[in-house]
Amino acid sequence: LFGFKTNRVSGYFNPIDPTDRDELVLPSGFKYDVIAAYGDVINEAGDTFGYNNDFTVFFPINGSNEEGLLWVNHEYTNPLWVEGEAVNGKLTNAQIEKLLYNQGGSILKVYRDQNGVWKMDPTSVYGRRVTGLTPFTLTGPAAGTPSVNGATSVQGTFANCSGGMTLWNTLLSCEENFERTASDAGLDDTHYGWVIEVDPFDANWQVRKHTALGRFNHENTAMGLSKDGRVVVYMGDDKRDACVYKFISNGKYDPAAGRNNSRLLEDGTLYVANMKKGAWVAMTIEAVRAAAEKASNKDELLAKFKTQGDVVVHAHDAAMLLGGTPTDRPEDVEISPFDNTLFIAHTNNDSHGNIHGHITRFFEENSDLGAMNFDFEIFAAGGRQSGFSAPDNLTFDASGNLWTVTDISSSSLNSGVFKSFKNNGMFVIPTTGPSTGEALQFASGPVESELTGPWFTPDERTLFLAVQHPGENTEDPSNPTSMWPHRPGDNQPRPAVVAITGFRLS
Ligand code: FEO
Ligand code: CA
Ligand code: CA
Ligand code: CA
Repeated sequence: LFGFKTNRVSGYFNPIDPTDRDELVLPSGFKYDVIAAYGDVINEAGDTFGYNNDFTVFFPINGSNEEGLLWVNHEYTNPLWVEGEAVNGKLTNAQIEKLLYNQGGSILKVYRDQNGVWKMDPTSVYGRRVTGLTPFTLTGPAAGTPSVNGATSVQGTFANCSGGMTLWNTLLSCEENFERTASDAGLDDTHYGWVIEVDPFDANWQVRKHTALGRFNHENTAMGLSKDGRVVVYMGDDKRDACVYKFISNGKYDPAAGRNNSRLLEDGTLYVANMKKGAWVAMTIEAVRAAAEKASNKDELLAKFKTQGDVVVHAHDAAMLLGGTPTDRPEDVEISPFDNTLFIAHTNNDSHGNIHGHITRFFEENSDLGAMNFDFEIFAAGGRQSGFSAPDNLTFDASGNLWTVTDISSSSLNSGVFKSFKNNGMFVIPTTGPSTGEALQFASGPVESELTGPWFTPDERTLFLAVQHPGENTEDPSNPTSMWPHRPGDNQPRPAVVAITGFRLS
């Protein structure tokens, strides 16, 4: 391949070869600026950037493509560089505070200076953290019910993996593998595993968790509208043998209502995908109890599922009862801006031989996101032929190209059948035109890292990317396996969020 032209905006790039260099490698003509790395001060109060950055979203200020707020998720910590090892299986209070503080999210004021370099402004009033210590309100059917032990407000957010932007300019962030932190911090695990909402521009707007969207190992959200104007949110549950969901609001989206549309996420129906029937199955308490009546462990199930609150808290178990199809670790779901089809990254499932994963495409009936029926295909499969393995986060450009990053686990990288892929990378896959389904490599991450959270500015001249867990397999902190981002004088690798530029308007 001698280069690749996206149809409308992004320009050209010459695909790179897989590499095991300890660097974020990009095609010639592209560069990256490190905006913030673990531990950097982000505001005048002295708050610091958390660990293991993941999802990013750029919120333009006054429509600018060069000045805005950048939300960044912080998914988990590494005891080697954050809270320290537990003693006799127990963390001290100070360690728990570090564990919780370094997860959640960061809001950074970012801008491109006159030399074309992206920077954060640590003097901005917008710079702030949302952490495992921040008070949250619960909304929806589980709030205040016995299903969450009566809670209407809960402590903090953590395990924030990917997320999404709402139609009303707020941020959704997804609590994924919450179990470890909840247990280490001695917190009630029914309070985690939700989708949270934050207004990055307004620290006084109460941050909240929307229980109507279900509690599971949430990867991300993809929001769109049904043909009749209701809000639809697609979501994957990133576990082996777990399901794909969608939520449809009862009320209709009103652009004039701004962030008050948030209420739409409190009242609606959660559906699970039955891929054999091509049907979305409504997860109502009535349906769950009717299914429980027919089960061999009927008494146990009827005791577990008494209210809609119980259904959302135990969403995976309810989905299984209702005929939801277990799939291979559904990660990001994205809606094609080109034709309203859905792309779902099924990253892998080594328990039954799906070693390299695949990307599934759903076709909703009549291209209506509110449809109750769908068809699907395997759009692209990981492996030698396609050149990628373990697709994870997805994002579209305006030309219908799907950008995907890979998450081969650090323990598998550069060994066995993963050898040829070398480090984790980023790939561009056209979803329309003659090259449909062909993956071209755009980036390769530093040693033992994973590239996460790709997000374009609206003009697609800047791509934000989070480099997560470089040097993850390090055993001796005085001899790390990676030193990325190679800051002069630094003595450890640091997860960092970068801005990639070089895209030319065609
Ligand atoms: Fe945190 Fe599913 O990746
Ligand atoms: Ca992920
Ligand atoms: Ca992943
Ligand atoms: Ca990962």
